[in-house]
Amino acid sequence: MEIIRIPGEMQAMAGKILHQGKSIGFVPTMGALHEGHLSLVRRARRENHVTAVSIFVNPMQFGPSEDFYNYPRDIDGDAEKLRREEVGILFMPDSSLMYPEGFSTCVDVEGISGRLCGAFRPGHFRGVATVVAKLLNIVKPARAYFGQKDFQQTVVIRQMARDLDMDTAIVVCPTVRESDGLAMSSRNAYLSEREREAAAVIFRSLAGASGLIESGIINVERIKGFMHEKIAAEPAVSGIDYAGVYDPATLEEPAATRDEILLAVAVRIGGTRLIDNMLVSLRKER
Ligand code: PAF
Repeated sequence: MEIIRIPGEMQAMAGKILHQGKSIGFVPTMGALHEGHLSLVRRARRENHVTAVSIFVNPMQFGPSEDFYNYPRDIDGDAEKLRREEVGILFMPDSSLMYPEGFSTCVDVEGISGRLCGAFRPGHFRGVATVVAKLLNIVKPARAYFGQKDFQQTVVIRQMARDLDMDTAIVVCPTVRESDGLAMSSRNAYLSEREREAAAVIFRSLAGASGLIESGIINVERIKGFMHEKIAAEPAVSGIDYAGVYDPATLEEPAATRDEILLAVAVRIGGTRLIDNMLVSLRKER
């Protein structure tokens, strides 16, 4: 595995690979890699000639009171995991090279960036869209892989790629879960044992709401009420940012004509903010 730290060197390497007629599959990450990330890496390996992974804890997507400085970091462990997956390139740029003095261009995907998590984390998706645009320009992948767990992120990035005519296919892969349903996330490392147990309520609220929909209840307020009640009953939950039913394309109230809806949750368990979601089909099987 080649480790590259300089954006210009990564660009030159990508140019060489493309010149050989080979495709690059790219998994952008912030490190602290878990099975969710590795599932993206495996898919990238299957679908491309060369697999590139980036590890960059992007300061631009963290708010001033968020966990940038405490975000879990395990470079040696991550590199070992990626070697075992036979990744070709690990790109690990320094912040000063990604955002040199005088840096002044940002990507704002208007509308959807302000909904759901965007309402609680102002500027977050501007930071995500900007760094992903930069990474795609540096790594030049045919395909870039993202987890469905960060659903809003995938909607923002797809919109950006479409609007800016980017030549990379955005591939969204299923959420990988622990045995009790908790979505894998680097932030799960913050949870105490008791909080970790309590966090399973997120998946239970999604699965319960999905069950209601499958039984024919599609009243948005009723499902939202069910989810809030279920989550609030768990004493370790310190706050609910949102929990409810949304349109997967607009992230607003679902349109009556949709054949798929999004159940999405953001809660605080102790001091840790966790998100999860589930897509539910409304189409009746014939
Ligand atoms: O999902 C993440 O880990 C990050 O938001 C990403 C896409 C790597 C951008 O920093």
